[in-house]
Amino acid sequence: MNQDSSRYTKLAVILHWLIALVVIAMFALGWYMTELPKEAAKQTAFDLFDLGVYTWQLAEEVSPRNFYFNLHKSIGVTLLALIALRVLWRITHRPPAMLASYKAWEKKLATGAHHLLYLLMVAMPVSGLIMAMSGKYGVKWFGIDIIAGLDNSTLRDVFKETHEIVGAIFLTVIIVHVLGALKHKWIDKDGTMKRMSL
Ligand code: HEM
Repeated sequence: MNQDSSRYTKLAVILHWLIALVVIAMFALGWYMTELPKEAAKQTAFDLFDLGVYTWQLAEEVSPRNFYFNLHKSIGVTLLALIALRVLWRITHRPPAMLASYKAWEKKLATGAHHLLYLLMVAMPVSGLIMAMSGKYGVKWFGIDIIAGLDNSTLRDVFKETHEIVGAIFLTVIIVHVLGALKHKWIDKDGTMKRMSL
């Protein structure tokens, strides 16, 4: 099914890097938004992350905390769709066999990390989505109401905890995965990174 069995297909490479970028940005946004004060003046114009690059105009006034929470939810729903596409790719394609130069433990560690990354990639947005659905506000996708809030604080607390724990495990596995990729690039100087390039 692959054009060349020694590297990933173009679609797999594009999805890998797009999802990697958005996942890392979502961690940063998640930490940023939870630090924002609960009581703050409402506004309609938001200079994104106070960078002076782009000002987002809204039709109605919201607090900065509300704005960034809604942005996190909207990107999270979009990310879940991209991840679903990626899982579909993985089910319908066999990834290229690992390089013959890998030691047995490297093959086991890389395979285990890849499987865990798929599981965590799904668990992270799904736990966030259930948490948001259980809360008062529900889920809006870039301003469009898609799911009403159940206002169930017990369910919300369970999934808030789940989202945080899954996040900590996800970040740990990502760090191991990135360190592995960099070891192959700079120490082993093999073709691992090229397999995940266009
Ligand atoms: C930003 C730094 C990252 C680098 C440098 C990197 C690098 C790589 C490379 C080189 C491969 C191919 C391994 C091989 O040849 O067998 C790979 C595979 C993979 N990466 Fe990453 N990655 C990064 C981030 C991420 C993130 C954030 C995720 C999860 C959201 C992720 C998920 C995966 C998965 C699941 C595979 C296995 C694909 C498969 O065989 O089905 N990566 N990565």
